[in-house]
Order: sequence, then structure tokens, then C-alpha cells
Amino acid sequence: MKKPVPVKDQQALVERLTQACGGGYSPAARRKYFLSGPQWAAAYQGQALFHAPTREPVGFEQVIRKYGEIGIGWWSTHDTDVIPTQDLGSERQWAAVERIGKALGENGLECSMVTTETFYHAVWAGGPAAESPQVREYCAARVGNTVELGHRLGARYAVYWPGSLGYYVQGAIDETRTLAWYADAINAACERDLEVSAKLGRPALKHCLEAKPFEPQAEILLPTSDAMLAFIGSGLLTHPEMVGLNPEYLHELMWGAAPRAALARALVAGKLWHFDINDGYRLKHDVDIGVGLVNPLDWLNVLVLLRSHGYNGPFNLDYKPPRTTSNFGVFAVSFPTAVDRFITLWEMAGEVISDPVIQEATEALKAGGADANSRDAESLAAANRELLTLHELIAHRLVQILLGLHRGRTYSI
Ligand code: GLC
Ligand code: MN
Ligand code: MN
Repeated sequence: MKKPVPVKDQQALVERLTQACGGGYSPAARRKYFLSGPQWAAAYQGQALFHAPTREPVGFEQVIRKYGEIGIGWWSTHDTDVIPTQDLGSERQWAAVERIGKALGENGLECSMVTTETFYHAVWAGGPAAESPQVREYCAARVGNTVELGHRLGARYAVYWPGSLGYYVQGAIDETRTLAWYADAINAACERDLEVSAKLGRPALKHCLEAKPFEPQAEILLPTSDAMLAFIGSGLLTHPEMVGLNPEYLHELMWGAAPRAALARALVAGKLWHFDINDGYRLKHDVDIGVGLVNPLDWLNVLVLLRSHGYNGPFNLDYKPPRTTSNFGVFAVSFPTAVDRFITLWEMAGEVISDPVIQEATEALKAGGADANSRDAESLAAANRELLTLHELIAHRLVQILLGLHRGRTYSI
């Protein structure tokens, strides 16, 4: 039996083993990446369905200070993360905005994104586009107010996650009406943005829709990023050019998608503006695990796609430190290691893009086989037969790069 570890020695042990892992970047190096830390991610107390909290509450001052120390240069927030629901839209909210601005300034952070909480409070029991005109009027005021908060905090993005736009029981709502009413809320936010940005002489925000296939509702009316694209192009929005996407990696995986393919569809539509990064499992719940802990190979491939297409929006660390992680561990282990895995995978993606084996294989595939008769299927198949083996070789090379085996490392038996 090993000797039990006294509580007073446990933080030092965690710290020593974290150091022993190596592979960490300096705060200055981390700040070079457009990584944003959500207020709600660090403040999450582990209280998922079925669970009591395992961590103490953490205020925004501490979150911002710790993000600053770690080297996370941007901060994102729901309107209700810091400001109580009852204060929103009243004079009282400006005192909180001032305190947030001060904390950001003192720690060298900027606010990148604001989002309206339209799922937690009982007012949203019927969703943000409920039948009641007064609830919808309240929703329009709330999203408009978030736009104003965003401008005052210096944000460039607004996110909308309509997680309660749907139902538990079928047939009670008319989906077409609900979608049109939801569009009214987005339209109200864009109109307000045009007014506020003109008044303040700032560029308008980028309004980004985020899908999730299920949770908290059983059925959600805009369950995927593709559904969001269809919604943007549906004719219901008065300013479709102001509205794009905030895909979340796990939310696409949850419905069984290939996240990289979903991102590619957003890219070709010119709508990939913001990206929530995390990890998890296919066809399961929204477990929001730290980036790269479950699917590092897929993550490498996702970042190759984004790097090679010049994506320059934020990477928002929308994950939840597990409930086994302590308050100390959230900032000593969870956030720095998530950031460092991201940076490593991002740099590795650069290595993939310039890898001579992958480059030559890709060029050869694009050149195609010689001497084929392009009107003859048999001749075409024969001309490309050997070249197509390169698909498997490229996949092997990607795994080699992920595991560091391309540097000549082998394992003996
Ligand atoms: C909620 C969701 C998260 C989303 C955020 C922004 O916290 O869980 O996925 O990104 O709201 O609205
Ligand atoms: Mn998210
Ligand atoms: Mn999620």
C-alpha cells in the first residue's frame, strides 16, 4: 500500500507533476493566439445534471486575473454571468461594466465576445421565441442590451445559442412561427447594433449563431450548423450579411457529424466567424471536455483545415473542467494544459501543411494519372489506381506527425 498523501502536500504534487509533463508555453507565447476564456467555463462548479457542485464559486475578477497570468488574452461572457438578470437593461448594469473593464485593463485582457443567456432563467421556459408577444419583446430587449454591453466592453462578436428553441412534446408549437419569431430577435439585435455602432463609431459586431442538436430541449429547431446556414439564407433575416456561425466542435460531433466537414461547409459559405473549442464523444451528451483530450487526431485535421483556409477568428475555450478538478486545479492544470494542447496542435497543423511527403502526395493526386482516355471509365480507373494508395499513406503520415514518429522515432520489441 502506498502512503496516503496529506491534503497539505497535494497541490505541490499536482504542480510538480504538471511541470514534469513539460510541453508548456510561456504566457507571452500563449497570448499570441486568439484564444478566449469564457467566464462561465472557469466559474463552472461541476453541478451538471445529477451532480452537486464540487468547487467553490469564483468571481469574474479572479477569473480574469488568472486568465491573465496563464496568458489567455481574451475573455467572453453571458450577459448574466456577472450582471444579475434583474439589473440587465437598467442603470445598475453600468457599474458592473465598469468593474469588468477595470479588471480586463489591469490584467491586459480584452473582451472578445458577449452572448445572451436565453436558456437558464424561468422566463425562457417556453423558449426565446415563445408564443407570448411580451416574452418575445423581452427577448428582443435582452439581445439588444447584450449588443450594447458588447460595444461598451470592446467586444467584436456576439453569440446566440438558442438551446431552448424547441420542445419536449410534439405538436404544441408551430415550428414555422417559432423560427420566424426567433428571426425577429436576431433582427432586433442587428438593428440595435447598427444604431449603437454608428453612435459609438465602432464596427458592427459579428453576430454568430451556435447550434446544438439536443439539450436542454429534447428537440431543437436549429440543431446543426447546417440548419443555421439554412436559417441565415431563409429570407427571415433582415441583415443576413451581419449573421454567421459559431460552431462548437462537440456540438457537431454530438449528432454524428465529422466536425471538419461541418466547418468546411461553413467556410465555403463565408460564415465561419467564431469557433468554440472542446472535445467529447459522438452521439452522447454535451460533456464539454478540454480540447484534444479525446480526439487529438481529428483536432489536428480540423486545425489543418482552418490554418490552410486562413481562419482568423477566435478560438473560444468553451469546455468545462471536470468535477474531479479542484478550484486550484482549474487554473493550475485545466486551463494551461488546454491552451498548450491547442497551441501544439496548431503548430503541428503548420507542420502538416509544409510536410514534404504530404505535399508531394497531394500534388501527385491533384495531377492525376497520365495517359488516360477521359471518356473511358476503365482507362481512368487504371490510370489512377496506384496513385490513390496515397490516401492511406497521407493518413499514416498524419498519425506519424501526431505521435512524433516522423522524426524517426521507432519502438523496438
Ligand atoms: C452556453 C452553452 C455554450 C454556448 C454558450 C454561449 O453556455 O452551453 O455551448 O457557447 O452558452 O451562448
Ligand atoms: Mn458553446
Ligand atoms: Mn457544449
